[in-house]
Amino acid sequence: MPRESFITGLDIGSTNIRVAVGQVQGENQPIHIVGAAEHEAHGISKGAITSIEDAVSAISATLETVERMTGIPTEHAFVGIGGTHIASMESHGVVAVSRPNGEIREDDVERVVEAAQAVATPPNYEILHVIPRTFTVDNQHGIRDPVGMTGMRLEVEAQIIQGLSGHIKNTTKAVFRTGLSIDDLVLGSLAAAESALTKRQKELGVALVAIGGATTSVVVFEEGDVLHVKVLPIGAGHITNDIAIGLRTSIELAEQVKLQAAAAVPADVGKREEINLSDFEGGEQAMISRKHLAEIVEARLEEMFRMVDKELQAIDRSGLLPAGIVLTGGGAKLNGMVEVAKKIFRLPAAVGVPQGIVSAIDKINDPTFTTALGLVQWGAGLDQRSGIIGKITNFSSVTAVTSKVKQWFKNMLR
Ligand SMILES: Nc1ncnc2c1ncn2[C@@H]1O[C@H](COP(=O)(O)OP(=O)(O)OP(=O)(O)O)[C@@H](O)[C@H]1O
Ligand SMILES: [Mg+2]
Repeated sequence: MPRESFITGLDIGSTNIRVAVGQVQGENQPIHIVGAAEHEAHGISKGAITSIEDAVSAISATLETVERMTGIPTEHAFVGIGGTHIASMESHGVVAVSRPNGEIREDDVERVVEAAQAVATPPNYEILHVIPRTFTVDNQHGIRDPVGMTGMRLEVEAQIIQGLSGHIKNTTKAVFRTGLSIDDLVLGSLAAAESALTKRQKELGVALVAIGGATTSVVVFEEGDVLHVKVLPIGAGHITNDIAIGLRTSIELAEQVKLQAAAAVPADVGKREEINLSDFEGGEQAMISRKHLAEIVEARLEEMFRMVDKELQAIDRSGLLPAGIVLTGGGAKLNGMVEVAKKIFRLPAAVGVPQGIVSAIDKINDPTFTTALGLVQWGAGLDQRSGIIGKITNFSSVTAVTSKVKQWFKNMLR
């Protein structure tokens, strides 16, 4: 099997680094995941690198594990990027149609997409993705594919996703130092959406809420398009901190208590249910009410979900997404999460697990692996994906971006 047929996804999280290696089996076939590994993260805080050296050794350790598993060296990867510096904005581009007869060609579309990028980027930001949504030809709005139409003036509405150049460079530097080259940089939550959401959910309207250790990422889809993207500076680690404060324990003990005994709905916990802290590593003899524990968790979770709902309010979708909320990331595994989400968002909610893959590796059927697997799926779908164009000047030259635009159009025309 040629090495090129393997696709690697690298998810650099605040608490965990995860890698997945997959193989495309054929068109419309699930991707075969042949390797997956995770390792505790170091040198990363809120999705941004704080120590390149520490991050490099954590990433290298994860890669070594997966290489042992697959027996093949990992040479390049699709790398997920996150962090609260990520910003998304609407942008608008306008150009005059170049041909005298007014027929719109692919190069006009490329120019208008480029025009949309030019207006939006502050100097210290770099564009990660440009997502053209609809086009306007003269005064006709809502066109999905203007190629072949006739007009004088071509406009585009696009969603631009960008991140701070410094943060992006630190991430790429850390990855390069491990000896890996980068196929593309992809916003982690967009990659997670590849694996955790169905096409139908994206059409109907859905919000992916990825709860990591230090950040919570939100991506809203409607009519198949990305409507909004946000990375919030609050994650499941905050629940651990609250437990540590509430129970007056160390963070390490609080984390164990959270993983093994916490639930998010106090009403589901019996009044007399108790846990003994001495049952946990490093814990001293003390009886704790599980109901009290659930109250601590619930309070923080409600606050987190209200912050996410504010994002939905900002785009007028609060309580209005037919396919509801899909929770993913490590934080989504907490008992009772779905019930709290249903209550706060007033929408259907479920935990999203990876889809469109086959594998003998059990541990990847888990919400923590959606980003790493989604990156593999992103890589595999690069030729087929409609609408999303990666754009980091360091990796994809202008011609590469252009060819992606072209490919995107070919697929729209199919
Ligand atoms: N079974 C579980 N129950 C409750 N919480 C859990 C469970 N498993 C993991 N978590 C929590 O999930 C968090 C880690 O999630 P994840 O690994 O997705 O984060 P990350 O990708 O490293 O971080 P980020 O995306 O914020 O950079 C931790 O706070 C951990 O306590
Ligand atoms: Mg994450």
